[in-house]
Amino acid sequence: MRNGAIALVVAVAGFGAALAQGGPHDVGPPTYQMRAPESGGDRLGASQDAAAIFSHRCGYCHLPAGMGTNLLTKQQVLAGNPPAMGLLINRNDLAADYVIAVARNGKGAMPPQTRVDITDAELKAVAAYLAKGKAR
Ligand code: HEC
Repeated sequence: MRNGAIALVVAVAGFGAALAQGGPHDVGPPTYQMRAPESGGDRLGASQDAAAIFSHRCGYCHLPAGMGTNLLTKQQVLAGNPPAMGLLINRNDLAADYVIAVARNGKGAMPPQTRVDITDAELKAVAAYLAKGKAR
């Protein structure tokens, strides 16, 4: 029992030392998993750039190699479409109302996005950006 406790202390201390020295645990997430910078500006107004909002609020799943992109790429390829259609920004079949409904309610593996995650004004801008003019 006592030996076990000592072994645990030694193991934890060793792990801490490995962290302090750098090494396999000292690498950050791959670049594609880093969140794009916040767009800044009034989150409740319409003053922000939709592409920047999308990159920051949705991009960690919907930019290249994000988990949303991975899942949607699989769906698109199964439907006979090119893999590039896995990126929401390449889609031409998304309507603004649909984007808003999916974001607020979630869909399958996508969790619902609250008004803290993305405000109504931000989501409206992102939906118009992804829908490229399609309202419904
Ligand atoms: C935590 C990761 C994650 C975030 C954040 C996220 N999504 Fe998603 N999204 C997904 C996944 C995964 C799917 C595929 C869900 C499935 O089919 O199971 C998806 C699907 C979608 C779809 C449906 C596409 C289709 O073909 O039906 C839309 C639209 C969408 N997301 C928009 C957004 C928008 C807009 C945002 C930002 C407000 C966002 N998502 C944020 C993971 C995410």
